[in-house]
Formats: sequence, C-alpha cells, structure tokens
Amino acid sequence: MSILVNQQQFHLTNGKISYIFQVLKNGQLGHLYFGKALRERDYRHFQRTNNPTPASCHTYEDDAAFSLETIQQEYPVYGKGDFREPAFMISDGQKPIANFVYKSHEIVKGKPYLKGLPATYAHTDEAETLLIVLEDTYQQVELELSYTIFKNEAVIARNVRLINKTDGALSIDRMMSLSVDLPHADMEMVHLSGTWARERHVKKRKIEQGIQSVSSIRGASSHHHNPFLALTALDATEHIGEVFGFQFVYSGNFLAQTEVDHYGTARVQVGIHPMGFQWNLSPGETFQTPEALMVYSDQGMNGMSQTFHRLYRHQLISEQWKNKDRPVLINNWEATYFDFNEEKLLHFAKEAKELGVELFVLDDGWFGKRNNDRSSLGDWTVDLEKLPDGIASLAEKVKSTGLQFGLWFEPEMISPDSELYREHPEWAIGIPGEHFTLGRNQRVLDYTRPEVVNYIFEQMKEIIEATNLDYIKWDMNRNITEAYSAGLENQGEFFHRYILGVYDLYERLTSEFPNVLFESCAGGGGRFDPALLYYAPQAWASDDTDAVERLKIQYGTSMAYPIYSIGSHISAVPNHQTLRETPLSMRADVAYFGTFGYELDPSSLSNEEKEIVKAQIKRYQSLRHLVRDGEFIRLQSPFESNETAWMIVSKDQTEVLVGWYKASSTPNPRTNQFVKLRGLASDRGYNVDGEKYFGDELMLHGLPLPVEFNGANGEQAERGGDFQSKVFYLKAE
Ligand code: DGJ
Repeated sequence: MSILVNQQQFHLTNGKISYIFQVLKNGQLGHLYFGKALRERDYRHFQRTNNPTPASCHTYEDDAAFSLETIQQEYPVYGKGDFREPAFMISDGQKPIANFVYKSHEIVKGKPYLKGLPATYAHTDEAETLLIVLEDTYQQVELELSYTIFKNEAVIARNVRLINKTDGALSIDRMMSLSVDLPHADMEMVHLSGTWARERHVKKRKIEQGIQSVSSIRGASSHHHNPFLALTALDATEHIGEVFGFQFVYSGNFLAQTEVDHYGTARVQVGIHPMGFQWNLSPGETFQTPEALMVYSDQGMNGMSQTFHRLYRHQLISEQWKNKDRPVLINNWEATYFDFNEEKLLHFAKEAKELGVELFVLDDGWFGKRNNDRSSLGDWTVDLEKLPDGIASLAEKVKSTGLQFGLWFEPEMISPDSELYREHPEWAIGIPGEHFTLGRNQRVLDYTRPEVVNYIFEQMKEIIEATNLDYIKWDMNRNITEAYSAGLENQGEFFHRYILGVYDLYERLTSEFPNVLFESCAGGGGRFDPALLYYAPQAWASDDTDAVERLKIQYGTSMAYPIYSIGSHISAVPNHQTLRETPLSMRADVAYFGTFGYELDPSSLSNEEKEIVKAQIKRYQSLRHLVRDGEFIRLQSPFESNETAWMIVSKDQTEVLVGWYKASSTPNPRTNQFVKLRGLASDRGYNVDGEKYFGDELMLHGLPLPVEFNGANGEQAERGGDFQSKVFYLKAE
C-alpha cells in the first residue's frame, strides 16, 4: 500500500487498485484514473488534450485548450465552465462561486476518526490516508479532501471537510462526500430499490445522457432506495467484468447519482441530499461530510460484494462484535403481537430454550400502556398490567432458564397518546400548532435537541441496567414529515442534525454498554445502511419472512452487505406478509444464510416440528462460523429465474455451504441437474452426503441436485412440487 506523489500527481495504490489524480494547470484537481492497479509512472496523458470546440465549451481566457467542461475532475466547482452538477455549492451571501486550488497535502498512517459520524476504521498498518488541502481564491475558505486506501482491499474511502476561515458566515447548499468522473458511460447502473416487505430488490438499467439517481428525502436511508449504486461494464456479470461500487456510510437523506454528459463521460456523486439541506457555517467552524466508499472489481458483482463484505466485517463492524458468534434468537412479535403477559412469555421462553434457542427477544408492547400501536412510544417504563412483577423480574426469570434476554425499543418516536407527549409536546417534530402527519399513529422525536437524546438515553440506560440486557432491537417505523424544530435557528440543518442525534444516542449506548448486541430495524429493512452497521452489527432485513420473498431480499442485500449482518428468521405459515405456505425446511434453508432465528410461537409446533427445529438450530450453530467468516458467492439470481443458488467458502477452502432453491415446480424437468460451484480448491476432494467430488468437477460440471419428480419417477424422485430447497455441506479431505 502506498501513496505516491510526483510533481503534483497523486497515485494511491495497493497492488489491487490505483486511484490517480493531479493538480491541473489552474490549480484545481483533475481526476486521472480509478481502476485495476497500474505501475508507478506519470499518467498525465490520461487527461484529454484535444482542443474543446469553442461552440460548445467555455474555455479559460488565457488558454483556448483548457475547459473544465471536458476535463475529468476530482471535486468539481460550479460556474467555471463545467455545466455538469458540481460537488458542492457554497456562498458567503455575495459570491455563489468558488475556485478551490491546491494548497498542500499530508499523508498519514491509518485513518483519521470522523467526529460524531460512523465510518470505517483502520489501525496504522492497515491503511494510509491522503489529505489534500484546497483554498478558495475568492474567499478565505479551505476544503480538505480525504482519501484512504486500505492495505488489502480494492477500496477508497472518501470524505470532505469545509473550513470557514472568513470572518462571516458561509452557507453550504450542497456538499457531496464523493465525486468521480469516469471516462466513459458504456455501463449499466445497478441499485437496490423496493419498499416495505420487498426491500433491496436488484434493479439494473443502462445509463444514458442525463442524470440517473437513487435517493431518499424521508429522513432515513429508506426501504425504497439503498445508499448504494454500482456501475458495471456492459459485459460484466456476477462473476466477470469491471464493476465500480459506491456506498454512502450514512442513514439519512442521501443522493447517489450518475450524470452522463454530452461527451459520454460519467460523473458519479454520493452525498447528503441537497434538497432541503442548507448549513450555516460560522467563522472558524468546520463542516464534515459523512464517508463515502468506492470499490473496484474486475471480477463482476460478486467481486465487488466480497470487497464490501470484507471491508465491513473487518473495518466497520465494531471490534467488539466482528469476531463474535451472534446468538440464535426467538422473537415474540408475530407469535403474540401486543397480546401477552408474563406467564405467556415465560412459557414461550421455556419452550424456546428446550428447542435450543439462545436469546429471547421481547418485542413491542412491554412498556407504557401499549396494547396497540396507538400509544406509549416515549414512555420506556414497564407496563405493570401486563408484567406486574416488572421488567427486571421478567429478565431474571428468562435468564434463569439459561436464555439471554433482549428488548425492543423505538427510541426516536413519540405517541401523541403518551405521558411524554403530554409533558413535552414540543419534543415532537413539527411546526407548533400546525397540522402534522402521522405514520403508524406516531410522531418523531426531535433528535436535533440534545435534551431529547439525553432523556431517551437515561430512560434506556435504566432499563438496560435493571434487566442486565443482552440485546436491543432498535426499531424506527415512520419517516419524517413537517421537518421543523422550534429549537433550531436554521431549518436547513434539520435532517442532518437529526441523524447526528441518532448517532449520538447509538454512540453513547454502545460505549456505555459494549456487551449489548444491537440489531437495527426500521419497519423491517427501512434503514439498512453501512452507518448503522458501525453500531449495530446486524439489521432486521425485512418484515417479510416468506422464504420465497426472502430469496430476493437476501440476494439483493448481499450485493452490498455481509450476510452475517442480515437478520433472517423462520416464521410461521401461512406467512403473515404473503399468506404463502412454504415448508419449514425451506424457511430454514434460506434463514441459515444470515443471522438465524425464529419469529413464531414454539407451542404452535407439533412434536415432529420441534425435533426438526432442534436439528436446525444445532446445524446453524455448527455452521455459523462459516456465515460469519466465509466468502459468500451468489450463483443464480432469483431475479432472473425460478431457481436461486448461493454458497459460502471458508477462507482455507476446506468448508463449503451451498444453498439451492426452486420457487415453483415445473413439469417434465431435465433428468440431470447440477449447480456449478465456485471458489473451491481444484485438486481437493470434497465430501458431500457420502459422495466425494473434486473441486474442479464441482466447479466445471457441478454439484448434482437430488432427483426431481417428472411425472413418472415417483419412487425415485427425491424432490418435487413448489418450494424446493437443499443446503449442502461440503468438507475437503
Ligand atoms: C416493525 C418491525 O419490523 C417488526 O419486526 C416489529 O418489531 C414491529 N415493528 C413492532 O412494532
């Protein structure tokens, strides 16, 4: 890993990738290259040298060959001849333009910490960071662009700081965390979009002249679009070809866009959504953007995903949790909804323990007077009608069975019918006295106010201490409307300050209670983003636990997130979201590829099913090291066919787990069916179900699937009908 500086040309490389840019003749920064590693040499010839056409380009007054419109840039300004969208817009109230030129640079070992913001981290021997300081020629303002290259990964992490050195206030109207100009746009854009119960479906489209984007202005990263996009070569697949992946380490309003210009270049930008954003920066103050990540892969989408997976596993998820097994949990939500009492819960816990479950999670409804979703959010004291002996006593009783104990909170919300609301109506977001919009009958607490964050922290702290809590499911069931805080002078700062308040609470809770495992959740998977993984190493992927739907949700989520962060549980049938009835075996076969658990009432299981569940839990316990540390490879997409396949290979290629699924039956199928594996050791023999195959045959010809029913082979058939699945475990000799 090195950062080479030669005559104002900067080359970050680690043998896997190169990221190269230079100081242009006007002092601004020009981008030269991002991609597979290049040797050390001068790359200035990568910048266009042909004269721009005067009829369509605006050139510098002293040089007809120099136009920002045709130059690849690093952090582009508006108003100097480039009419693509700029990386930032600032103004001192007089001049809306800026002209940032190179001032100095510094190279530091490791990666500086971003105050108040979640970000990837690195020890001094794991990364190097280049800090470039630019100064504005119009006003006393400095920009610091930060680029971190990691030792072993094809990733550049970027962020930007703006420092106001003037003696007046500055207005920031746009400030992207990342901007990069790629030299051509013959690519497709892949993104993860959906809605509640069908989060992170894979979408793909050819990029064309104009702007194509994904974004959120909901106050959360959202169910609808994930802060992720990839640009793939037209011939790229899951396994081959060039892919550029981008992720925003942020949980609030975001914009991720690709602008293809009239010359067919592609500008990618990722950052806080400028819509509604306006930040006042007082003299001497600094504005710090969140982090954005860029990944390069020449091994298709899987190559990109595996880089994100490793990066998040090693440099984002906290040291505390990254190497730890997560408990097999059972959650009472779909089993009881709001209708429970202590007796019911203790019976539930006892039965769960007998099945082999490790953690019991009491979901919504244990506090205030919460018998439905119309009350009590904000009142984090136990409901003594449901739990007359109190929450500490319940926790103790659950723990005495040998289970860990977890609780659901929705810390950012307030119900109009709550003690907290009656006492502090001004703590709800909205314009006082004006109409407000409800989402799931609730309002959002004003986390821009430190006193609100403090109050909720104290409430949660009391419960965590009293119960000696092991786990928190942090939910968030609505988005932000009427974004207004009476406590703020500038409403343009609202959304960002809100999310900083959320991070503040997460930071305080995780520092004070490092042994509590957090799982983030937002009405299912409405805030599944890298920033929250920094605090909560696992996230509830979706309220939709239907095994067939989960194939798509988990396949899509794995594009950007390690599978050991994907909360995936087995629920009862008919499924509560789709009414589909899939077999218990398929539900488990899908859930194994995530953090495993159950969302059902153990008493509803027959004795035979109980034995199956016991075996499933044992199986997961014996395999979870693979789910945690192995390399995940997508083999067949549920978005492209009726069959899905994926696999995990251990780092030393000795253990392999393959998941194969067929959603609906098809008549008269092929007699010989195989699934081609990847990433194995060619010459090693792998044992599976009493048979031995070599790595090369498994990769070149495939792993045989059980014989399928074809209308005539009833006695021989090992599978058939809808909802087929099989998980294979392979062990190298
Ligand atoms: C939405 C979550 O996604 C569910 O799992 C459950 O916790 C409910 N909220 C509870 O209100």
